[in-house]
Amino acid sequence: MVITQKDLQECSVHLSSDELAVEIIDQTQLPNRTLILSLTTAKEIYDAIKSLAVRGAPAIGICAGYGMYVLAAGKAAGAVTDSKELLAQLEKDGAYLISSRPTAVNLSWAVKRMLKVLSQHTDLPVKEAVDLLKAEAQAIHREDIEMCYRIAENGLSLVKPGDGILTHCNAGPLATSKYGTATGPVFLAKERGIELKVFSDETRPLLQGARLTSYELQKAGVDVTLICDNMASLVMKNGWVQACFVGCDRIAANGDFANKIGTSGVAILAKHYGIPFYTLGPRSTIDMDCPTGADIPIELRDPEEIKNMWYKEPMALPEVKCYNPSFDVTDHELLTAIVTDKGVVYPPFDVNLKKIMEME
Ligand code: MRU
Repeated sequence: MVITQKDLQECSVHLSSDELAVEIIDQTQLPNRTLILSLTTAKEIYDAIKSLAVRGAPAIGICAGYGMYVLAAGKAAGAVTDSKELLAQLEKDGAYLISSRPTAVNLSWAVKRMLKVLSQHTDLPVKEAVDLLKAEAQAIHREDIEMCYRIAENGLSLVKPGDGILTHCNAGPLATSKYGTATGPVFLAKERGIELKVFSDETRPLLQGARLTSYELQKAGVDVTLICDNMASLVMKNGWVQACFVGCDRIAANGDFANKIGTSGVAILAKHYGIPFYTLGPRSTIDMDCPTGADIPIELRDPEEIKNMWYKEPMALPEVKCYNPSFDVTDHELLTAIVTDKGVVYPPFDVNLKKIMEME
């Protein structure tokens, strides 16, 4: 697959043309405004990830990769003249960035990958070390485009023309690089003239399904129907859904996986109605150091997102207790298969995920 510089620049997360900043589409403003944010400091990158201006596991990883490069380039242009000192400073920045969101493993995966390159070349002059960091960040980005394409191919093999697919949250191009993961097969199908129908859960409380998934699919000319999360059961019962495709933020070694809050409920419904349920993700989302779903850290977010965020007036009394976990864990027993860039992984997941991770 040939990936040009233009392909990279067109992604929702990319390096600015002067290579001094990470540029992102501010996802908090969609679908009403397309705003580009330019991030140059560790605080700006941290805030963009924390506030979900950039979100989706692979996109966060790409942002962290470019972010580490931009921070390194800034330090090299300033007072840092030694690669060992550069590494010491970047280790601190990396730990800070990782602390912005705990669940998606792609964030720490990308930061660690950038630090590893630098730690292996601390004998080089700073300028050369920084060039290596740029190449590594671009490699993370290119690999994601390739992986998403392969995931899309593999996912497409599981459905037939005219099928209805239910998805939850947003795992399209905005959340990755190109194509996306869960909706990658749909975009690829569209390119090939194959029509699929998508039911997009709105995804309370932050409405990624309404604001982002239905936006991306509608713009691409896909037959998309937006539903409230509590309508999924009815839509399945009506016989309109032939497969569920969802993304993932971290897949544990036994196949349990974390994804946007509400995903596990969709999986339970799918099992009830006998509908195949798949998670689609790149190998950068598989965490073999995490034995089961119980070991995945789950991010808790501000209750204001539930009580106030989208309304003219608060929808609950200020003193009402609120629980706002950003993700839940779907038990591997509810999963039909995991669609990766290296193929479709079926149970037993503990055995087969290991095999897929050992592949070149
Ligand atoms: O809180 P978010 O919007 O970052 O949650 C994102 C998801 O749950 C996605 O499904 C997941 O990151 C996969 S994106 C390809």
